This record gives sequence, structure tokens and C-alpha cells, in this order.
Amino acid sequence: MSTSNWQPLSWRQFKALQQPEWPDRNLLDEVYENLSRYPPLVFAGEVRDLKAHLADVAQGKAFLLQGGDCAESFSDFTANAIRDKLKVLLQMAVILTHGLGKPVIKVGRIAGQFAKPRSSPVEVQNGVSLPSFRGESVNDPSFTEDARIPDPRRLERAYFQSASTINLLRAFTCGGFADLRQLHNWNQDFVAQSPQGQRYALLADQLSDALRFMKAIGINGHQHGSVLREVEYFTSHEALILEYESALTRRDSLTGDYYDCSAHMLWIGERTRQLEGAHVEFLRGVKNPVGVKIGPTVTADEVLGLCDRLNPQNEPGRLTLITRSGHGRIEQTLPPLLRAMAPEGRAIAWICDPMHGNTYEAPGRIKTRSMEHILSELKSFFTIHQAEGTIPGGVHFELTGDNVTECIGGSHEIREEHLTERYETTCDPRLNVAQSLDVAFLVAELLRGSV
Ligand code: PEP
Ligand code: CO
Repeated sequence: MSTSNWQPLSWRQFKALQQPEWPDRNLLDEVYENLSRYPPLVFAGEVRDLKAHLADVAQGKAFLLQGGDCAESFSDFTANAIRDKLKVLLQMAVILTHGLGKPVIKVGRIAGQFAKPRSSPVEVQNGVSLPSFRGESVNDPSFTEDARIPDPRRLERAYFQSASTINLLRAFTCGGFADLRQLHNWNQDFVAQSPQGQRYALLADQLSDALRFMKAIGINGHQHGSVLREVEYFTSHEALILEYESALTRRDSLTGDYYDCSAHMLWIGERTRQLEGAHVEFLRGVKNPVGVKIGPTVTADEVLGLCDRLNPQNEPGRLTLITRSGHGRIEQTLPPLLRAMAPEGRAIAWICDPMHGNTYEAPGRIKTRSMEHILSELKSFFTIHQAEGTIPGGVHFELTGDNVTECIGGSHEIREEHLTERYETTCDPRLNVAQSLDVAFLVAELLRGSV
């Protein structure tokens, strides 16, 4: 399908699921106009760099680490929170780079992850039914009638928070904080005494020795300075609210192509990936790398259709498929998909999201996930790819830089009765720092054996 009949707003001719019912359309139009005048959050050149890295991921030459909040929040918006989310991703990337011996591409679920698709349009608490919370760019998480009314001005607030977040991330990643010689400083006090924290510290010691050795033999000159000092870090979020995404779409002056400049990478969620839907229509026309979440019910024909629509030129790095079947189903669902796609020669980066197929309700109706299920799905993902001769390109997590108690298991032995101690997510349960380091070490071990 050619993009000649595509426009940033052509999606409006298609059915758009999971969109808020904005009570004030005039206000929405006003916000749209404002957003379409504001500066882009990312630049086309950076987006092309990420696409080139993801082409390496599809070919097994690099590994994708994507992670961050399920939903960013307006209230938890501080320099420390942003810094700590960056720290944990940098720590995981060090563990993976060391274990895999290949570049790890770091992509945060950050600076735009404000909108949530919901399984049910209403939430019921103690017999009271209200519209569901749809992410802070739409409505407020508090359980009151007023809070749940969608307000388009929130889209603008999400934009400004994203701008401020990406500004700090750029300062951290280019200003010396992410310098490889700072490895020890990324280990936070509350995790330093845990087995994972200690294991990380040991690795940091070894790497620091290696860096000192390299310096001693002269590999630390100006030509290598920025490799050690700076880190490439990209942003991503679910492209859910199409008014927001199309308002931030810009035509690149260099190539004439359209880019969604709200983030480097955008993905389509499991609930909005219909071939004839508005989300696929919107994303087919922008040149960013695009991800699609695929759950246990997806068919090989649907995946082929997504490749045709979203990547008709079969360009490596353009399409990432993020599988999220659940630990009990991946063994049945993933092998047939890989077998159906292999003879097609499609350029796809296959990524595992072991979070979204493994959510369950603990007593007290608390949404949680267990480390056991997460690790089991990851293990199956790598074993299946090895057996099929296909490439496991990376991993996708919901995690945070804090010591929260939202997922159970891991070395701190978080059990169901501990969940309420620090349950702070506004949407899905996230891994805390120790649990995040745990999964990074496991993935490194699994892959060291198989690739
Ligand atoms: C998410 O990533 O937060 C999400 C809603 O995922 P999925 O579309 O896979 O359910
Ligand atoms: Co989620």
C-alpha cells in the first residue's frame, strides 16, 4: 500500500478504538492547534539512528532493552524519579552488554507514556461505577466522577512534562552522568546490600578494572572519549491518543518524510492493532520505528497483514513485534508464528514482553505479576527462538527506579501480603530495582548459553 494517500489526519476515516470521549470538542481542537505549533520532542535524524540500531537487532547484531513505567504520572514528576529510572536501565544495559558481548539499544517507556488502553470502559469500586482511568493525558486516577472526565488540556500538560523529561534525560546521558566510569554510582543504596546489588557491584568492579587497563594501554584518548562518556538513549510510548500523535507529526525538511516527533519509537497496543483500524493507518505513514504488541490470540495472517501495512518495503529496523503471550501460552503460540513467518523473509525484530500476559489479581483485588511467571516466559522465549533458528531481539519490561512492592517474588521475597507496603503504580505493577537487576542477570545467562 503506498503512502501517497496518507495524511497525518487520514486515520480519522478509520475506526479508532480506545479513544476518550472528550466532552468538549472545541477545546480538543484548540489543544490540537497548539500541539501542532509546538517544537518537536525528537528529531528525524535521531529517529533514523534508532531505526539503524533496530535493523541490527533484527539481524542479531544488537539487543533491545525497552523499559519504564506502565503509565507515567503527573504527580511523580521529579528529577530524582527520572534519574532513578535512567539508572536502573543503565545498570541492566551494563549487565546485558557484558553478558551478551553485543551493543544493547536502550529505549525508555518514558517522556510520553501517558495514555492507557483499558479492558473495560468502567471501573467499579464498592458498587460505584465510574469511567476507567485512561492515563494522565486523558483523566485523573482519583476515583471521583469529576476526576474521570477526559480533559484535552491534559494532552498539553503531557507534552510539557515529556519535553522537560527528555531535556533532563539528554543532560544525564550526554553530560557525564552516564559515563561508564560512573558504574558504581548507579547502584542505589537501598539495593546495594541485596544479592543483585552485590552482584552488580562485583561486575562494576571488574569492568572498572578493564577500563583502567584500557586507559593504561592508551585506549582512552579523545577518539574514544565520547563512547565512554555518553550513552545513546531513546524514548518510546504507546501511540494511543491519535490526536496527540498526529498533532506532533512533522515533515522532515531533509527527506520530505513524515515523522511522529513525540518519541523516537512508537508502538501499537494489543487492543488497537486491527488491520483496518485507525492506529495502523496512522503509523503506516510515519517513518519512525514501529512496534506492535501481539498477544496469545494473534494469527499468522494478522502478523503478515501487519508487515504488509506497516512495512511494505520490508525495511529492517522499521517493525518490531513485541510478543506478550503469558508464561502458560507462549509454548503454544510463538512457535507457529515463527514458522509461518520464516519462509516469508520478513525483516522483524522479535521482542519479549513478559509482563502483560502474566498479570493476575492477588487477594484484595490488587493487580500483580510474579517473578516466577516473568522469568518462565523469558526462558521460553529464548529457548523457542533457539529451537526455531530465529533471533530473539530483546526484552520489554515495566519497571521503575524505586523500591516498590508491586510484583511478587525475587530476592527480597515480596509476597502477596507485602504488596500494599509500596504499591504506587497508577496502572500496571512494575518491577522494582532488585527485580529488574534479577531479570537482566537471567537474560544475560540465558543468552550467553544460546547465541
Ligand atoms: C502496556 O504496554 O502497558 C499495554 C497496555 O500493553 P498491551 O497492549 O500489550 O496490553
Ligand atoms: Co502496562
